[in-house]
Amino acid sequence: MVTKGSADYRDSGLQFAPDFVIGSATASYQIEGAANEDGRGPSIWDTYSHTPGKVWNGDTGDVADDHYHRFEQDLDIMKDLGLDSYRFSIAWPRIQATGVGAANEKGLAFYSKLVDGLLERGIRPIATLYHWDLPQALEDEGGWTNRGTAYRFAEYTEHAVRALGDRVHTWTTLNEPWCSAYLGYGSGAHAPGRTDGAAALTAVHHLNLAHGLAIPVIRETATNDPQTSVTLNFHVIRGDDETTPEAARRIDALANRAFTGPMLKGAYPADLLEDTASVTDWSFVQDGDEKLIHQPIDILGVNYYSTVTVKMWDGVSPRENADGHKDVGGSPWPGSRDVEFQVQAGPYTDMGWNIAPDGLEELLLHLHEEFPEQALMITENGAAFPDTVEDGRVHDVERTDYLNRHFTAAHRAIEKGVDLRGYTVWSLMDNFEWGYGYSKRFGIVRVDYDTQERTLKDSALWLKSLIATRTLP
Ligand code: FCB
Repeated sequence: MVTKGSADYRDSGLQFAPDFVIGSATASYQIEGAANEDGRGPSIWDTYSHTPGKVWNGDTGDVADDHYHRFEQDLDIMKDLGLDSYRFSIAWPRIQATGVGAANEKGLAFYSKLVDGLLERGIRPIATLYHWDLPQALEDEGGWTNRGTAYRFAEYTEHAVRALGDRVHTWTTLNEPWCSAYLGYGSGAHAPGRTDGAAALTAVHHLNLAHGLAIPVIRETATNDPQTSVTLNFHVIRGDDETTPEAARRIDALANRAFTGPMLKGAYPADLLEDTASVTDWSFVQDGDEKLIHQPIDILGVNYYSTVTVKMWDGVSPRENADGHKDVGGSPWPGSRDVEFQVQAGPYTDMGWNIAPDGLEELLLHLHEEFPEQALMITENGAAFPDTVEDGRVHDVERTDYLNRHFTAAHRAIEKGVDLRGYTVWSLMDNFEWGYGYSKRFGIVRVDYDTQERTLKDSALWLKSLIATRTLP
């Protein structure tokens, strides 16, 4: 997956098939608010965001977009945009305040109303079971470093699917387990904020195990023959240094194959185990685990924003280490801290992430080549820019252009034979962007955090036109 260069991906007039599913996405902690209502327990993100110094400006998800109270209005916005699908996540601590035991009926009722509201408006519900808000009580017992958490996840899955498994179209087990494991337990840039490489790799395995345990539960419990999936944030790795191939192999192993190996091939890659031998002996992988994790899934969810460029650090020169994530002391790359992440050519989004639509095409082609039978869906793609409101409008030219280029890239991949089923724009509305709080705006709908007023940005109108015409405006 090592290439260079970028082509011009700005195009219009390209057509998408009528059954290509175009939608938008959010996640529970980022939008819901109502952190202490109707029996919701604290999650690791409540604890983390309330810890001074962890999140920009001390921002928390206590109120966020107040979606918990305003979901009907948000559903109407989705209907107005004509979304084919809406990808949301279920907050585990709303269903089980402490991550164990009986289901909280009020929590289930909220998602039941949301799903009904989607179906009434002709929008396909895509539910993610875990988008990072682990019940704090489970973290107190080790969180994802505790094997028991994977089993608790399967029990929670059963509660959720029992309540919604007659209506949800697609179930996604995990969102970006890379972030949960390596940012949560390795670098400390995400909740729970631990900085321990061995813990991060243990978390990788238990997240994989949670996925493997949950997929059969979904199949057995749902009554509407749903689609099953997982969403991964693949790293598209570049560089032209003579040491790039070695650095790229290491990052590919940690970031990509640590998940696709067991999930889609039934085994951890041997080089991953070798690269990390100084950190852990992987004895947390028990006999039969890899087989368990290797479950057929209907859709592989792909989140893509930008690329990384790497080489091996020579041990002497000052390190760049610009990997696009907040540097908070720990490393998200256990066993491979000597990989250097180089500053990449712009343009950049407000996250400092480089804009590289060719990376999306390349990734889709690569995944199709490696897993030819696996249908794919872009479950997240989008961009943060500092928007301004002028006369009640938001002319977010850069975001619209970003989306146009990435839809073009997706179209090119489809033309080259990739089985790409849909495209979900991140995000439906501005929201709590994790460690960056409310400072980064990814929405196609603007949220005024003082008044909770929603305003369609030009990118939302652009998407509406795309969905209505199936043609890139
Ligand atoms: C992804 C997350 C999503 C959002 C985007 C910008 O890593 O899944 O919640 O924060 O990045």
